[in-house]
Amino acid sequence: MKKIFIGGDHAAIEMKSAAIAYLRNTLACEIIDVGAYDGERVDYPDYAAKVCVEVLKDKEASGILICGTGIGMSIAANKHKGVRAALAHNSYEAQMAREHNDANVLCLGARTIGLGTMESVLDFWIRASFAGGRHSARLEKIAKLEDKCFS
Ligand code: RB5
Repeated sequence: MKKIFIGGDHAAIEMKSAAIAYLRNTLACEIIDVGAYDGERVDYPDYAAKVCVEVLKDKEASGILICGTGIGMSIAANKHKGVRAALAHNSYEAQMAREHNDANVLCLGARTIGLGTMESVLDFWIRASFAGGRHSARLEKIAKLEDKCFS
């Protein structure tokens, strides 16, 4: 069973609920919801941090972050050393994010994609796995960039 930490801001409340239901009931994932839990205005970097800290502690876990566009969440998540966050708008991007980039955090835009697209993005991201090979060397270069820029 895949373990996923999920978080979102006030713009993400409806999509986060739908994503949790789909991940639990259709994709049989273990879900830990770090909030936000209601529509009160909050700041997306706080929820990006809650999810990323957990993902970095547990190498078997992944994260999902949702805000209005998914852009703020992806910018904030990628400030965490070791997080490879990818914003996906369709199933192809979701699959490539795993196969080529080994994305351990998926970002979604609640205002930019519908719930049907969200489900297909989740399907492909959950089912895909890292292809390794030439992509491993590229990820090693990214890790070196992190060492250089984030220390
Ligand atoms: C909130 O209004 C909005 O700015 C946020 O959800 C997100 O889209 C930021 O990137």
